[in-house]
Formats: sequence, structure tokens, C-alpha cells
Amino acid sequence: MADADFKLSNVQGDILVGLSKKTEVFFFFQITNAGAFKSQLKNVVPLITTADKATGEKEAIRAFKAEKQVRINGVNGSSGTNELGEITANPPLLSVVGVNIAFSQKGLTALGVTDDLKDPLFAAGQKADAFDLADKGTGDTKDGFKPDWDDAFLQEKQEIHGVILVAGDSFETVDGKLDEVKGLLSTDGTSSIAQVATLAGDVRPGEFKGHEHFGYMDGISQPALNGVDNVDGKKPFPGQTLVKLGVGLLGRDGDDVQGRPGWAKDGSLLAFRKLPQFVPEFDRFLEDTADKITDFDDFSDAPSPADILGARMVGRWKSGAPIRITPLVDDPILAADPQRNNKFKFNPKSQEICPFAAHIRKMNPRKDLANPETSIDPHLILRRGIPFGPEVTTEEKLTKSTKYERGLYFVSYQSNLGNGFSFLQRLWANNQDFPPQEPEQPGFDPIIGQVHGEVRAMTGANDDATANSLPLDRQWVQSKGGEYFFSPSIEALNGA
Ligand code: HEM
Repeated sequence: MADADFKLSNVQGDILVGLSKKTEVFFFFQITNAGAFKSQLKNVVPLITTADKATGEKEAIRAFKAEKQVRINGVNGSSGTNELGEITANPPLLSVVGVNIAFSQKGLTALGVTDDLKDPLFAAGQKADAFDLADKGTGDTKDGFKPDWDDAFLQEKQEIHGVILVAGDSFETVDGKLDEVKGLLSTDGTSSIAQVATLAGDVRPGEFKGHEHFGYMDGISQPALNGVDNVDGKKPFPGQTLVKLGVGLLGRDGDDVQGRPGWAKDGSLLAFRKLPQFVPEFDRFLEDTADKITDFDDFSDAPSPADILGARMVGRWKSGAPIRITPLVDDPILAADPQRNNKFKFNPKSQEICPFAAHIRKMNPRKDLANPETSIDPHLILRRGIPFGPEVTTEEKLTKSTKYERGLYFVSYQSNLGNGFSFLQRLWANNQDFPPQEPEQPGFDPIIGQVHGEVRAMTGANDDATANSLPLDRQWVQSKGGEYFFSPSIEALNGA
């Protein structure tokens, strides 16, 4: 049951539901006039998409899609479709655009907020965490380490005080809404903020919709929150973990950090990371390596060895279906069925089906930890990222090297960064001994595991799933920076 005073209308929508998006802009800003900003912020609050509004929009989109399907199937005789199946008569227009806002510790300080949110990683900022996250950079110790990040995130010239997230159905609607918000944060033509950077992400086109740039379906496994995803007739999907509300929200059940200020309740901590992906190089590695380590192409209907190796590195096929030995093929129907696509367990002590190091097994080992008493619940995060950059060009495919930057703007929400994003990256992805499986050493997460750019290795990638170590010849995902933010409740924003 939900806490009695809990209201979806008090929580920003990206945290609990996710903003509906085809495209999303992240506007990173510095506050240049704190007094003006505080009074102007109250005018922005009515534009914020709350969790209840985000829920309503998702339902409207679902209904819209169902209606569109009816029209395409020709059941609704009042509208026509052309030979391409496109709707030709009076299609209903559904334009959705949502706004959320979050602040860094430097931003809270600029606004004169002196309360301690009791999250040391948030307080110090992500740059101070870069060495422990094992990002590439210069310097052998934490002191003086300079990550190899984009200038904006190094914050040497301008501090990042906050980020405005605007998501919607097109760049036009998103840009228009961002201009509206910026207009409200300005009086007589003088703005109370300055832009540090604007980053734009875009869902991949056509058949790749919902897939990240390596080609794998993303956004399949999310925790369900008690009091949100199991009320009003809703229930978690089979295999979906139901966690305490406080895993996502500060000040709620499960958020065991004592002494957080009351106004921080129903806010959440946001980790943003810019993660470029080297797609042609990743594909080249799969092609060059797979034949040497897999023998599955003996089966006539088997996928290519490169597809098998890729699936074993991620833990799912490109469609999003979890990998299984039988049948050894991708299964798009299973992938698209939320009643089944998370309903699986890893086989404890065995990496025959899924390597211990596979990205999804590292990030959510489910009930597979050596010590069954260890709960993974506090380490589950709400992921809300979006891809950025163009599709791989013909030239890049031919030369097998990246010319245009593309990747993932990673966004996660959690009530504690040391349990959430930072923990997953440092202690699971970058830890070759996790999950503990003696005598086998799982190796690094082949997708995001990193040691300051050094070569890493994983085991279990080969078809006989032995502990043979597979060197991962380079990083195919490389951090270009980010920041930690606090995404406050609506009441807190109104009282700022
Ligand atoms: C799941 C890709 C970065 C944490 C997944 C999935 C894919 C994927 C394809 C499976 C689909 C799903 O279950 O939703 C990537 C790529 C990344 C990236 C390409 C970088 C460019 C990260 C980072 C973290 C992370 C930085 C956290 C430190 C997770 C988690 C899951 C997941 C928690 C769900 C696992 C589960 O519950 O089964 N990712 N990811 N990912 N990823 Fe990532």
C-alpha cells in the first residue's frame, strides 16, 4: 500500500514514470542571479510534468496507438490508409511534451540551500567520483585526477547548477517548450541563468526504435515501486522485482539515510552520464572474435556466431529476449511480451546459458548471489536514458571505425548514489570478481566495465562457457562526463 500522504502529483514524472519521448533535450545551466531565479522558478513549476500527468500521457499514447492500429487494419471505415499502410484521413494528432528540473550540489549552494542531503557523492559532484568510477583520464591517484571528459562537465569555466529536461514527440515541440521555460526564467530580457551545454538525444528511427546503438532493445527490465506500480489495479510483471518506494524516493520507506531535510522528501537523485559508443568497432570485434570461440553455426537455423557472442556479452538478444540455450535463436515475440521477457532466473554457479559477466547479469544478478541473504533491492535503479547521435553511416561500416559521435545519455534515479549508479559501476561492472563464483572469475562487464581505459577480459563468452578468458580489446563505451543532480518534489520547488 502507498504511504497515506504519498501523491503522484508531488513527484516529478521522469522519476517514477519516465517522460514520454521521441526526443529529449538536456539543458545544463548556471544560475547567474539567484534572487531572480528563485522567484521566477515558481512560474516554471506549473509546466513541470508530474508523475500523475506522465502516467496519463502514457495511457493516452497507448490508446492512440491502439486506435492507429485499428485504422491501419481498416476496421474503422471512416479513415483510409494508403498502400504503405499510412493513415490518410484525419489522423488524431497527439503532441506530448514534458518538463522536469534538477539541481547539482553547486546549484543548491548557489541558491543558498545549506541543508545536507546526506549523500556524499552528490555533495562532492560526479567529477570527484570519476577516479573511483575508473573513467579514463590523467593522474594515478584520486587527488588531481583529470578525467578525459567534455569541457562542459569538467566545469573549469562554468559551474553546472542544474539541468532542465524537456522531452516530447519532435524537436520542434521540445525546442518550443525549452524556449518557453527559458523565457519564464528571464525578466525584461535579462535571464537569471546561463547555458553551460545543451545536449539532444533521439530515439533511434524505424525498426530500431527502443534499441540502443549497439542494436539491443533497451528499457526492458525496471524495478516496480511499492505504492506506485502495485496500486489502482496495477501489478508488477512476472519477474519484475517489487522494491520499497524509498529505493527511488528520498524520505520514503526503504530510504534509510537518517537526518535528511524534510523538504527533500519525494525528491530523487539523478545520475547523468554522456556515454559515447564505438559501434563499428564493437561490430568488428564480434565478427573477428566470434568464429574463433563459438561453434554454434553447425546448427542450420542458428544465428551468426557474432550475434551469439554479442548476446552473451549483453545477456539478451538484439530483440531484447533473454538468452536461452534452446532454442538458440532470437525470439522477438518473447521479447515483446512483458509477461515473459523478465520471467527468468540465472542458473546459479553456471554460465552455460548466460555468462556471469554479461551486462544484465552484472547489473541485476537476481537471486544469483553467493550469499542469498544479500539483497540486491537497494541497488536497483530507475533507468531513463536516451540514445544520441546519428545512425552508423555506410562509410563507417566500410572503414569499421567511428567518425560521428553517438551513444547513450544515461539517466538513472535512486535515493542513494552510493547504492545506485555509482555502486553498480564501481563494485559490479568494474569488478572482475563479481558475482562471486569461485573458482571462476567472471571478469568485467563487457559493455560498461572499465579500468581507466586499460584492456579488460571476461569469461564464459565462448560456447562451452568455460572460464577461458576473452580479452576485450578496447572499451566500446567511454564516459565523456556527467553530473549528479537532485530532482526535488513539486512542494519543494514551490517553497524554494
Ligand atoms: C540493461 C545497454 C549503460 C545498468 C541493459 C540492457 C541493455 C543495456 C541492452 C538490456 C535491456 C533492459 O533490460 O532494459 C547499455 C548500454 C550502455 C549501458 C549500451 C552504455 C552505453 C549502463 C550503465 C548502467 C546500466 C552505465 C549502470 C551503471 C543497467 C541495468 C539494466 C541494464 C540496471 C537492467 C538489468 C536487469 O534488470 O536485467 N543495458 N547499458 N547500464 N543496464 Fe545498461
